[in-house]
Amino acid sequence: MSADSKSFYLTTPIYYANDAPHIGHAYTTVAGDVLTRWHRQRGESVWFLTGTDEHGQKIMNTADANGVSPQEWCDRLVETAWKPTWSSLNIAYDDFIRTTESRHTERVQRFLTQLKDAGHIYSGKYEGPYCVGCEEFKLPADLDDGKCQIHGTIAEIVSEENWFFRLSAFVPQLLAHYQEHPEACEPASVRNEVLAFLQSGVQDLSISRSSLDWGIPVPWDTKQVIYVWFDALLNYGTAVGLGDPADSEGGRKFAEVWPPDVHLIGKEISRFHAVIWPAMLMAANLPLPKKVFAHGWLLVGGEKMSKSKLTGIVPADITSHFGVDAFRYYFLRAIPFGSDGSFSWEDMSARYTSELANDFGNLASRLIAMIEKYCEGLIPAVATDQSLAGALSATVATADGAMEVLDFQTAINSIMEFCKRVNGYVTEQQPWVLAKDPANKVELNKVLYNTADSIRALAVLLHPIMPATTEILWESLGANETLGDISQQRIADVARFGQLPTGSKVTKGAVLFPRLEEKAE
Ligand code: ME8
Ligand code: MG
Repeated sequence: MSADSKSFYLTTPIYYANDAPHIGHAYTTVAGDVLTRWHRQRGESVWFLTGTDEHGQKIMNTADANGVSPQEWCDRLVETAWKPTWSSLNIAYDDFIRTTESRHTERVQRFLTQLKDAGHIYSGKYEGPYCVGCEEFKLPADLDDGKCQIHGTIAEIVSEENWFFRLSAFVPQLLAHYQEHPEACEPASVRNEVLAFLQSGVQDLSISRSSLDWGIPVPWDTKQVIYVWFDALLNYGTAVGLGDPADSEGGRKFAEVWPPDVHLIGKEISRFHAVIWPAMLMAANLPLPKKVFAHGWLLVGGEKMSKSKLTGIVPADITSHFGVDAFRYYFLRAIPFGSDGSFSWEDMSARYTSELANDFGNLASRLIAMIEKYCEGLIPAVATDQSLAGALSATVATADGAMEVLDFQTAINSIMEFCKRVNGYVTEQQPWVLAKDPANKVELNKVLYNTADSIRALAVLLHPIMPATTEILWESLGANETLGDISQQRIADVARFGQLPTGSKVTKGAVLFPRLEEKAE
């Protein structure tokens, strides 16, 4: 199979459309965008799905409280908050699924009917605690004094005749799956929790609700709606033609992308994704996702940032001060993916100034200024400094290997270390000193070429993380006309030195990372 035909299907959670996105949602979605852009630059055929989760009691309660129908509420939030936020953050998703769309509801109903026909669904009585914030039936061990550990609210006691999914029957198969494929649930800390949960005696799952009507009707018992999580998890399939005939458009899409390569999620929804979801797929005899990766939480005051606790910071609060690309860069650079982390203005300001403005932005603007001053604005003769070229090859290998395992921090560190190395090279070679004596012209050109081509590589490597800024830099290197679009540059080719053609015209562009204004309190 050629690199260009390898498919890479990545999903984010579908977020509840009960409120506008905060930086926790943006964290996951930006991570997905960076990873899919990286895979596109590897030449893979990428499918990047995000969307909104629009059924269930939480959405219904919010709509009721605002005096509109749940559908109107979701329509408004999706169009005025979710989609605009993703476009402002330069998120290049391929598809946005809403669980109220008929392409979703119809496929969910067909899937559930198929499971019932195969004997995986039965009717029974459910009684127990339910957290509306989580939309989850809770076990006693999940509650502190009757309160949800995540939301801090008292769980309601639900008592209903429901339809059940024989989840417990899949426990041995799930345990065997993670034994054989530990990489299917990461990081290891989350996998261990999932394994402990599987070993603790998993109950069958109530997959319908009779006490509310905002949901997808159970096809054979329309007084009940399908439990919101059973509906929501299926989005990963319904968006790509789950269950459609093989020779239809949906069937072909499904064959092309299934199974998903990565489900990106926050760690609080690991059980849904690493226990319930694969069991649903097992019941339908479908291949399982290759990886569920559960990242950590952005914390405020030591607790998970959340809408319900009013601790949500909206992305625009940060991007209006630091810009979109610094936002995209910061969280993946500062927090090991998989660990919790706190947002701090001080840390973000410090990294912005030292890593983005000084190490990267200034390097680029100094190089352009020197080529304008010493070379009439034209890229000089191709030259290769073996030591820089070696460092670049090592950087690309490290960064690509780290991206493969979703270790964004190591990938970005290695790229920024190379950026420091190039700064060091300029400092050692002192082109402004060489420029004083025309006898050094050849040497001066070599230094400037090596610096310029290193910056070419930095722009390509940083493009998935900071698409807009690196495009500006690409333009100012004159690379568009000669090398083509920056997004078309391949990771496998980036370390090949000498790509910027001699004679390309460089132009001074906008300052990449402007000096920060003092932040008003
Ligand atoms: O759970 N830190 O939707 P949701 C990091 N609809 N990430 C965070 C975060 C934080 N403080 N807060 C939210 C749902 N997230 C379901 C999902 S999927 C089939 C259904 C991110 O709106 C993180 O990805 O509560 C988390 O898992 C997700 O938003 C939860 O979004
Ligand atoms: Mg949540």
